[in-house]
Amino acid sequence: MNKNIESVLISEQKLEKIVNSLAKQIEKDYNDKEFIMLGLLKGSIAFMADLMKNIDLDFRIDFMVASSYGSGTESSGKVKIKKDTEFEVKDKNILIVEDIVDSGNTLNFVCNYLMTRGAADVKVVTLCDKPTRRKVPFEPDYVGQVIPDEFIVGYGLDYDELYRNLPYIGVLKRSVYEN
Ligand code: IMP
Ligand code: MG
Repeated sequence: MNKNIESVLISEQKLEKIVNSLAKQIEKDYNDKEFIMLGLLKGSIAFMADLMKNIDLDFRIDFMVASSYGSGTESSGKVKIKKDTEFEVKDKNILIVEDIVDSGNTLNFVCNYLMTRGAADVKVVTLCDKPTRRKVPFEPDYVGQVIPDEFIVGYGLDYDELYRNLPYIGVLKRSVYEN
């Protein structure tokens, strides 16, 4: 295990089960509906790669970069769109793929932004959810796992751009970000 990881929160095997189950729900709900799967970079990369391979439907994918974090562990509250969608979202059904919902600032902002641009429908699938940390009301449509108030990394999630490559999700040692 990586020396900066306190403990494994979601193992590789568990991740596979969670992702399969989310894929099956999405496949059922979008069976007769065109949609664009919109990943929020960079955190969603591992999750989205596995999720999309398990959805047996025809859909397009796109990416956005929105950021509210610096290099710390707290959301600044100000969300900036650093990279917009490639496709026109007007009249489209959008399924946003996110790694984790924390304060809710990012998704609250991005969902409103897409609706303002005329999207027909915006839904969110998130791998992890920390509902106890919400600062603005936000409820994802599909949640992989509700997690306690710990800073986690791996499977796409980072601290200071590190640990995204870990194949599991682990709790980061506090000594890494506290001193
Ligand atoms: P929110 O805007 O506060 O909901 O934050 C959402 C973003 O913060 C996520 O997309 C992550 O990139 C990041 N984030 C929140 N909690 C964690 C965590 O525990 N580990 C790594 N990144 C996190
Ligand atoms: Mg993110």
